[in-house]
Parts: sequence; structure tokens; C-alpha cells
Amino acid sequence: MDLFINNIREKDCSCDALIFPVIEGERGPYEGLDSSAEEIIKKVLSKEFRGKKNEILLIPSPGNINPQRILLAGLGKRGEISAETLRQVGGSSVAYLRDMGMKRVALSTSALASFKLSPSHFVEGALLGLYTYKKYKKEKNGKAIKSMRILLKPSRNLTNELDWTKTVTAAVCFARDLVNAPSNDMTPTDLAKAALSLKHKNLSVKVIEKKDAQRIGMGSYLSVAKGSDEPPKFIVLEYKGAKGAPVVLIGKAITFDSGGISLKPAEGMEKMKYDMAGGAAVLGVVKAVSEAKLPVNLIGIIPATENLPGGSATKPGDVVRALNGMTVEIVNTDAEGRLVLADAINYAKRYKPRAIIDIATLTGACSIALGNEAIAIMGNDRALIDIIKKSGDNTYERVWEMPLFEEYKEYVKSDIADIKNTGGRTGSLVTSGYFLKEFAGEVPWIHLDIAGTAWAEKEKPYSPKGASGVGVRLLLDVIREIE
Ligand code: BES
Ligand code: MN
Ligand code: ZN
Repeated sequence: MDLFINNIREKDCSCDALIFPVIEGERGPYEGLDSSAEEIIKKVLSKEFRGKKNEILLIPSPGNINPQRILLAGLGKRGEISAETLRQVGGSSVAYLRDMGMKRVALSTSALASFKLSPSHFVEGALLGLYTYKKYKKEKNGKAIKSMRILLKPSRNLTNELDWTKTVTAAVCFARDLVNAPSNDMTPTDLAKAALSLKHKNLSVKVIEKKDAQRIGMGSYLSVAKGSDEPPKFIVLEYKGAKGAPVVLIGKAITFDSGGISLKPAEGMEKMKYDMAGGAAVLGVVKAVSEAKLPVNLIGIIPATENLPGGSATKPGDVVRALNGMTVEIVNTDAEGRLVLADAINYAKRYKPRAIIDIATLTGACSIALGNEAIAIMGNDRALIDIIKKSGDNTYERVWEMPLFEEYKEYVKSDIADIKNTGGRTGSLVTSGYFLKEFAGEVPWIHLDIAGTAWAEKEKPYSPKGASGVGVRLLLDVIREIE
């Protein structure tokens, strides 16, 4: 969809549909329309349309104005309208117009002018809401909106905000594509190719192959790859946009998690292709940061492998040695995410980072606890947790803090090794975090569990069914906050 900013009046705008946001319980402003259009809208407002949030109504426009139709788009009550409202209304109204076969649409911003909110949030929702994944469908070029014109007074400059919005939403959709891809087309090798495709003057990408990972001593990470014929790929991206210590983002990338010898039940196992959503989010973030040339140093680390129960797979009870020398008893091969993250966290320390943030679909318990509405956050750095919480509110990729009490140490104590990879069923969301904390040590570190938010069973206003691309907008907001 092409975006344009136009300084013309609503009634003069030639388009298939003019989106006209309406505040619940308020009439007008009708700026830019003419009296006949105003009359039609007023008639509808007194009866079938109230302007509730996400309520929409498509009406024909009077013949004397240029827009063919008007889409009334409810924003809800004045006091409750937020950036998230605009995203949601943007997503639902534009997806609706697409489904109605509209090609050229326009957005009236006169109702928004009385708020401090940027129309770019509306565009963000629209660009995210229009996302579809058609790669494996015969019918690829269905209905599509070609252009959106944003009707704006010249006093308001939106160009920079819109450029950023385009970069961010493209990064989210890039991540969604990677996650929606079936695991036979998104192997660790495919993911490494996707990472290499981002190479740029300011962004170098290297892939540590199995042999080198063995040489370095990543026994924890490699133990997960043993049951699969697909070669593991430890992907490292280095973006340099400033001086000083970098931030390291680590994304779990199990391109398929069968559970290994501790095999998962068949029902729902097909969804375990999304167990690389953390890695996809990190790729999305690095892509956007390098495109926008943000003034930060950023490292992305993506330990990629399958977790399969092949003949040489790791068995419950096996003991492996992690990169930092710690021995790990693998009690359950399905708790593989923390095994790959443990080595990635220690590899990250080579960069003497100011912070390490890992993002992972780590535990089923995360979605049991928080449903599909929040990311679980844990970590050893109060200031950073607070920054991320705020970014969660800004982006509506909300985070909820879980404790890392020292008592959890008992849970992961092994009789035979330095630590074991599960603490059993009770507290499994927090004990997974505690396991990682033992590897992070003193380095400022944050863990984000996105098991509940990375995949949507039901569509949301600006997130179709399937991969959500969660984490990309959150982490980009964090990076802009601390840059
Ligand atoms: N990838 C899963 C977690 C998961 C489950 C993500 C459902 C998304 C949806 C992870 O590797 C896993 O299997 N975790 C186990 C840990 C357990 C064995 C301690 C879990 O949560 O059941
Ligand atoms: Mn697992
Ligand atoms: Zn997993």
C-alpha cells in the first residue's frame, strides 16, 4: 500500500472510500466535508451508528463530493482514546475496506486534531492489519488496497513519523513471515539465509557452524541439535551505529520443537514451528535499526536448531557442559530453549554489553499464567525492567513482571551436575527464568517469555491469525528509549 500525505479538503479527495473517524457521543467536526455529507452523517449518528470503539459503517456519499463512500470509524469515548485505539481502528477499518474491494482510500484527520495523538498510529495499525500470509495459496493476489491518502494541514509535518512507522511495520511483517513459514521451509539454514539477506554497510552477519560451536564449547546449545539432521546455525548480527558498549538481543530459534526424546503430545505439535519467534523478532529489530541507521550499537544473537528425537538425540538424564563450563543435567529434553539461551547468554558476554535482553517462546506456563495478552518479564536490572514496562505500555506489547526469588535455586538443583534444566511443573515459568539468571550472572540481563503472545489463534484488530511479530515493536521502542 502506497502512502501519501495530501493537503486537500475531504470533499475534494477522489477515492473509493474516505475514512471518517467519529468520537462516541460527539457530532463533528465536519471540516472539509460539505453540508450534504454532514447531513447524511448526522442522520446516521442519531440512529444506527454510535461511534463506539472499532464500530464501523460504510455509507454512500452524496454525489456532489469526490469520495465515493464514507467509512464512519468509531473511536469510542473522548477520554478513553489512546494510541492503541488508533492502531486498532486503523487495523480494523482498513482491513474491512480491503475485504469490500476498495483500492484507493483516504483518512480524514480532523477528528484526531483535537488530541495529542499522531495519525501515524492509525497508519501503523492499518499496515499491520493488512498483513496476510499467502505463500502456499494458489490465490495469491486477492483483494488489496493500493493507496492511502492522509488528509493533513500543512502545519503538521508527519513525514519522519511515517517513515519510522513504515520501517517498524515492515520489520514486524518480516518477522511474521519467518514465523508463519512451515518448519520444512524455515530450517536453521533458512533462518541463517534470512539473516544474511540483511547484510549491509552498517550490519555484518556471521554464522557459527556446528564444528566451530563445538570448538568454542557450546555443549548446552549443541545438545539440542543432536537429534536432528538439519545443521544448527548460531547466527550473530553486529550493527554499529555509535560508540560504546552494545546492547545484545538474543532470540530463541528452535525452528521446530518436537520436545525431543521427551516428546510432546501430537495435538497442537504443528504449532511448534513458531518456537523460533524470538529469533524472528530479533531479526526484525536489527533490520529496522539498520534501515533507520539508529545511533546505537546492537548485537543480535540467534541460536537456531531443531529439537527432534533422532537416533543420536540427547536423552533425559544426560549431562552436558555449557560454554561457561557449568554442567547441566538434562532432565527433560523439551526444556531445550533455556539450553540454547544459556550458551547464547555466555557468548554475548564477549561483547562486554551494557545489557543482554533475551526473547523466547520459553514455557507453556507463560500462556497459562498470562493468556495471550502479556509478555512475562524477569531480570536482574530494575531500571531496565522499568524501561521495558513503559515501552510495553507505549506499544501495547505489554509486559508483566515475574519474580526471581533466590528460593527457586533449590528447584533447579541437580544431584549430579551444577544445575538441571527443569524445576518440575510448579513454578515452571519462573524457574526457567531462574535457570537463565544463573548463566547471566552479574551482567545486566532481561528475559522476555513470549510463549503466550507470539501466536494468535484468533485475529485481533491489527494482527491476523497466526504469527503476531510480537517483540519487534516493543524492543524498537526500548532501543529508542536508551539510545
Ligand atoms: N517451546 C516450548 C514452550 C511453548 C509451549 C511455547 C507452548 C509455546 C507454546 C518449550 O520448549 C517447552 O517445551 N517448554 C516446556 C518446559 C517444561 C518441559 C519444563 C513446557 O513449558 O512445557
Ligand atoms: Mn520444548
Ligand atoms: Zn521450545
